[in-house]
Amino acid sequence: MEGDNEDEDVQLEARLEEQDTFEPPESFVEQANVSDPGIYDEFEENWPDCWERAANLLDWDEQYDQVLDESDAPFYEWFVDGKLNASYNCIDRHIEEGRGDEVAIEWVGEPVDETWTYTYQDLYEEVNELAAAFREMGVGEDDVVTMYLPMIPELPIAMLACARIGAPHSVVFAGFSADALATRMKSADSEYLVTCDGYYRRGDPLDHLDKANEGLADVDHDTTTVVVDRLGEEGFGHDLNDDQREYADLVADQEGAEVEPVVRDAEDMLFLMYTSGTTGQPKGVKHTTGGYLSYAAWTTQAVLDVEPEDTYWCSADIGWITGHSYIVYGPLALGTTSLMYEGTPDYPEKDRMWEIVEDYDVNQLYTAPTAIRAFMKWGKEYPADHDLSSLRLLGTVGEPINPRAWKWYYKHIGGEDCPIVDTWWQTETGGMLITTLPGIGTMKPGSAGPPLPGIDARIVDTNGERIQAGQAGYLTVDKPWPGMLRTLYKNDDRFIDEYWREYSDPDSDKWVYFPEDGAKIDDDDYITVLGRVDDVINVSGHRLGTMEIESAIVGVSGVAEAAVVGGDHEMKGEAVYAYVITEDGYEGDEDLREQIVAGVEDAIGPIARPEQVVFTDELPKTRSGKIMRRLLEDIANEEELGDTSTLRNPGVVSEIQQKVKGD
Ligand code: WTA
Repeated sequence: MEGDNEDEDVQLEARLEEQDTFEPPESFVEQANVSDPGIYDEFEENWPDCWERAANLLDWDEQYDQVLDESDAPFYEWFVDGKLNASYNCIDRHIEEGRGDEVAIEWVGEPVDETWTYTYQDLYEEVNELAAAFREMGVGEDDVVTMYLPMIPELPIAMLACARIGAPHSVVFAGFSADALATRMKSADSEYLVTCDGYYRRGDPLDHLDKANEGLADVDHDTTTVVVDRLGEEGFGHDLNDDQREYADLVADQEGAEVEPVVRDAEDMLFLMYTSGTTGQPKGVKHTTGGYLSYAAWTTQAVLDVEPEDTYWCSADIGWITGHSYIVYGPLALGTTSLMYEGTPDYPEKDRMWEIVEDYDVNQLYTAPTAIRAFMKWGKEYPADHDLSSLRLLGTVGEPINPRAWKWYYKHIGGEDCPIVDTWWQTETGGMLITTLPGIGTMKPGSAGPPLPGIDARIVDTNGERIQAGQAGYLTVDKPWPGMLRTLYKNDDRFIDEYWREYSDPDSDKWVYFPEDGAKIDDDDYITVLGRVDDVINVSGHRLGTMEIESAIVGVSGVAEAAVVGGDHEMKGEAVYAYVITEDGYEGDEDLREQIVAGVEDAIGPIARPEQVVFTDELPKTRSGKIMRRLLEDIANEEELGDTSTLRNPGVVSEIQQKVKGD
């Protein structure tokens, strides 16, 4: 019988291979949150009032007077003079509706069988106690609280406790280095930190407080730190200093405390999120309470098709924007059950995710192409061993998905019975901007889809003129939307420079947002995002600045100059390629290579670790002295090289090529 199955499989694969478009399954359409194609026209005709549909998903303490104020563009204001509290919207109101016993967060630990369930009532209690403790520590409205935590329940609890008292949070991904933590705390003048003793990675406890302390040592201003005891007896026996408090003690002192949610203006900052850009300094993206929260809730409902009774799982880390919008704020605002997983997909076995889907009857799974490529490589038998029939919708985010991975996901995870939403967006956009609506749109593997209703995304040439279908150009967004960033923290000039300078015409008050992605569009207005056109690379869906990596490498003694580019990588999408010139008297040897890798890990974190370090005597430069990165990319990808005639030193190219091949 084995043989028959194999045959069937081969036939199926062949059929899928040829299929370019897929319709949403009938069973899905019948129950979809959004199924009327008229929604696109409706939004266009009623713009910007159409966005009331998003705002109406929230409870407002005071109704806004105006949907959009464009008078100070591109410093747009949304839901002007509206007042609300995000923590109230994500917790209290669901309890008031009698849903306090329903599950808000299903937490699945890395150690098998370590799980925790938080009902909305539990979440209410935890968040209130921590909010009271924050207050007692002196955290005031608008004070930035930094969180340097892995995927443990205290992270969303701390975020919501901040939101409750009107203190913006700044979450730093736990995999980032001590240096990265210090830079972000200093940039945000953040005097408070929530971190933990350690956490588990593939069965072993990992010291985290050590790294946090190292970062804190670099912060000049006074700080108070709250430390979660994650590891208990398996911990590292850290002694807390005078500026550090035990999380458990703090909340125990506040048992039963209730904190009235602080009424925030719609435009008040909800959080800051640092992300990589063109220069070495990370950018502090500012998101607001009214616009961001309503946009996160709206897209969770319309695109992820989440309903209160669902169990929904986004496998991202809360340390990135995806986790903010689609593990915490969107799902909890809608009152659903959000599943949160601490570990990695292959520990203890490669079927861990499918086991979780089966055990919890997960209805929606939102993950990254890089994870899907890993699942493919591990083999279809891992999901096949589990009952995944609870799944109703699949999603991807973070990088382009190749059609083969899309089809594998569709067949082996979705059982050909779940629509897939390939969602394009960014830290700056707050939520999804380009994707099909799962109950409406035909799916085309590899193409994210049309812009969402109300989103004016275009593909243009360097002059900002729309280009023909099929040709590659630049993605722009020509109208504002509620979830957009409002500015870069304390740096309005850089905000304009980074996002608005390129395609806007301030003289005629025309403002166009430039996300720095290349893309193409087809005859049905479906957009295929090709990748970044700036110095940002995307490794396993994680956004990294090449300049940040270069400055880390140049900081290693013995390095004179470095150029970093992204090279294609089968699993990671892109990988870090570093071309390095040594200082006189230094050898480009294994020892220096290790120091360079360590230097990058110290400055940023293991995710930025170079895949290849290529030592060279020269870098390809133009006559004006600029490094030709495109050429270095082509070399990394072992592709045909473009024009090298403008190089000052064309001879260097073949030398570097040989080294890359030789490695
Ligand atoms: C890329 C993550 C293709 C893109 C939410 C963008 C994508 C950057 C997709 C933002 C997608 C994100 N298809 N590319 N569906 N989604 N990207 O800020 O280059 O970490 O500019 O936000 O990821 O990364 P960020």
